[in-house]
Amino acid sequence: MTEAAAPGSLLSLSEISLSYGKRKILDAIDLEIAPGSFTVIAGESGSGKSTLLYILGGFLRPDRGIYLFEGKRVYGRFGEFGLGRFRKKYVGFLFQDFRLLPFLTVEQNIRFPALFSGKKLAKEQLQNQMQNLGIAHRSKAYPNTVSGGEAQRTALARALLMNPPLLLLDEPTGNLDSATEAAIVAELVRLKAQGLTLVCVSHSNFIMQHADRVLRLIDGKLHEQVAVTAKPVRRPRKKS
Ligand SMILES: Nc1ncnc2c1ncn2[C@@H]1O[C@H](COP(=O)(O)OP(=O)(O)OP(=O)(O)O)[C@@H](O)[C@H]1O
Ligand SMILES: [Mg+2]
Repeated sequence: MTEAAAPGSLLSLSEISLSYGKRKILDAIDLEIAPGSFTVIAGESGSGKSTLLYILGGFLRPDRGIYLFEGKRVYGRFGEFGLGRFRKKYVGFLFQDFRLLPFLTVEQNIRFPALFSGKKLAKEQLQNQMQNLGIAHRSKAYPNTVSGGEAQRTALARALLMNPPLLLLDEPTGNLDSATEAAIVAELVRLKAQGLTLVCVSHSNFIMQHADRVLRLIDGKLHEQVAVTAKPVRRPRKKS
């Protein structure tokens, strides 16, 4: 087990293992992620992709192994309070099940982390993000009255608006049609160009085509998949 990240890594996992009961889900995983890179994690349902993303996001303590972020241990040095601060400072997370608060509107859900962390959010910034993701017209709706795709885009807007250095996305386009998926991939490519580091769980070939790297989780181990060539992504024209 190594305590030194490879030079140039933003984050580094060394021999990370996690079991649920007797079932080993992650088996001594090693992973280096460079800053500003776009990594896709694929794998069969139940292979442990969400579990791995929770560990990267500071939500789930592994049983064994070392997780270094900017060269410092995440789980070794932080208690629950410190992990909360780590998440707030560094991590944007799109949960596979969205985790919208049912008593807040779409707009309030998006604002919530900013309010919670005391970060000022310009109204224009919020409006632009909702427009970009095509949910502005549902801003006053409550989560139980929006479609699956709208809920997903609300959760994505909430993760993006904090402008975190590390963005972890669990199936960001699972519920979306191909035009909306293209708009979201364009947004991800734009964020990457701004220097954000993205790790995205996805089965979408379209997303994989825009990633620097595709990894596949099989039997608790990560396998590098042959790179797919990136195609330029065009944002669909907005209807006037
Ligand atoms: N808290 C838990 N306790 C026990 N088992 C769990 C727990 N969370 C997940 N599991 C199981 O661990 C395995 C990995 O779960 P995980 O959610 O990481 O898979 P996944 O690769 O994200 O799957 P999917 O593609 O369906 O989202 C699954 O078999 C799941 O049922
Ligand atoms: Mg999952």
